[in-house]
Amino acid sequence: MSVAGTAGTKVWVVGALAVAAIGGGTVVLTQCTRGAGVRDGGDATLVAAARDYRTYCGLCHGDEGEGYAADNANALRNQQFLASVSDEFLRVNIERGHPGTSMAAYGERYGGPLDDGQIEALVRFLRAWQTVPPAEMPEPEGGNALAGAGTYRTLCASCHGARGEGTTALSLNNPIFLETASDAQIRYAIAKGREGTPMPGFEERLSPARLDDLVALIRSWGREVDDPGAAHPELVRPELPEQIVLNPDGGAPTFSPLRDGRYVPSAEVARALERGSRIIFLDARAPSDYVRYHLPGAVVAPYYDVEQIVERLPRDGTWIIAYCGCPHAASGRVMDALRDRGFANTAVLDEGVIYWKDEGYPVVTGPLPGTMADAE
Ligand code: HEC
Ligand code: HEC
Repeated sequence: MSVAGTAGTKVWVVGALAVAAIGGGTVVLTQCTRGAGVRDGGDATLVAAARDYRTYCGLCHGDEGEGYAADNANALRNQQFLASVSDEFLRVNIERGHPGTSMAAYGERYGGPLDDGQIEALVRFLRAWQTVPPAEMPEPEGGNALAGAGTYRTLCASCHGARGEGTTALSLNNPIFLETASDAQIRYAIAKGREGTPMPGFEERLSPARLDDLVALIRSWGREVDDPGAAHPELVRPELPEQIVLNPDGGAPTFSPLRDGRYVPSAEVARALERGSRIIFLDARAPSDYVRYHLPGAVVAPYYDVEQIVERLPRDGTWIIAYCGCPHAASGRVMDALRDRGFANTAVLDEGVIYWKDEGYPVVTGPLPGTMADAE
């Protein structure tokens, strides 16, 4: 048996604190009658964490943790999720993110915006959503990856992708997920599902041995983390460069009318790059993602810190293209902020930067904007 949470080291209190974040950025803390209340840290930390959650996480995971505000961002408030993951799982997944997906590394050490204390507080904030005790989770016994492959193809691949890369649901082959999730936790997710999300429970349809096979299969996808941010800590802090405009002497790009008045397709943006058009690329993701790769000439403009870039942008009609991985949430937020402030020619890269890279369009690695000549 393995039990999630911090059992053993810390007393687990059911419903000790309900943190309700309501409209207008107001945060209300409600002390529930059950449990001993907040111990280490105190309410002020949780209020700050609630604010951080809104600033950094709600965009994709939903302001109330309901999930799916963008992309495949899971429901962080889901009780089966909370009951089956440890604090350490939450901490590391927030700190390091899921490389290759729109879940960025939020930890400072990995080029993200949050220090250790903020991440600890976020973990406690998420825990406060939990209303059920930690799950009792049987460990898988043995399990045969090969035998699991057939079951996976028929029952799982449609949502999680042929190799667990994630399609309509989150990925299962992510190195950080596999490094931090226990076998028991993975098995529990498959057996019980996640109520209120598309993830069904399979314990009625699959024998215990079949469940174990699936865990073995998912485990077999483990691999090294491709993480230049971690490998080169000196590279992780990109800053806004002097020159924000790419190809300042180039002509204006020509785009077809934007889809929904907002989105420009990758093919047209690639053509503008190829022609050396005058343009500004804003990378709306966390800087940790920017360092991994970005469009040639792009500058850091994280969705949670729009003001610093606004001051620096020219108001001469230069086209400004924002992009992210999600593929529209973060970039859309940045573009809307620019439009609110009267910038004329703005658009969002329609398919997002993950597609852009997968299609073989040029990208640059590291903390500097780079040029087409630096692109891979
Ligand atoms: C730009 C969108 C986006 C933002 C912003 C974001 N996430 Fe995520 N997050 C995702 C996606 C998408 C996934 C699933 C990634 C995958 O497919 O592996 C994820 C995964 C996670 C996971 C792992 C869940 C699991 O079971 O594997 C945790 C924990 C998490 N996010 C917490 C947070 C927290 C806390 C924040 C704020 C600091 C945050 N996320 C901000 C998109 C986002
Ligand atoms: C209809 C779509 C769908 C199907 C089919 C499906 N899943 Fe899922 N799965 C999801 C979604 C969505 C989530 C995340 C739910 C949440 O917590 O928000 C998920 C979560 C999971 C998780 C937890 C991952 C994590 O990061 O916390 C595992 C493990 C998992 N699924 C395995 C499987 C396996 C194995 C199968 C096949 C037996 C399967 N799923 C079938 C949609 C699906």
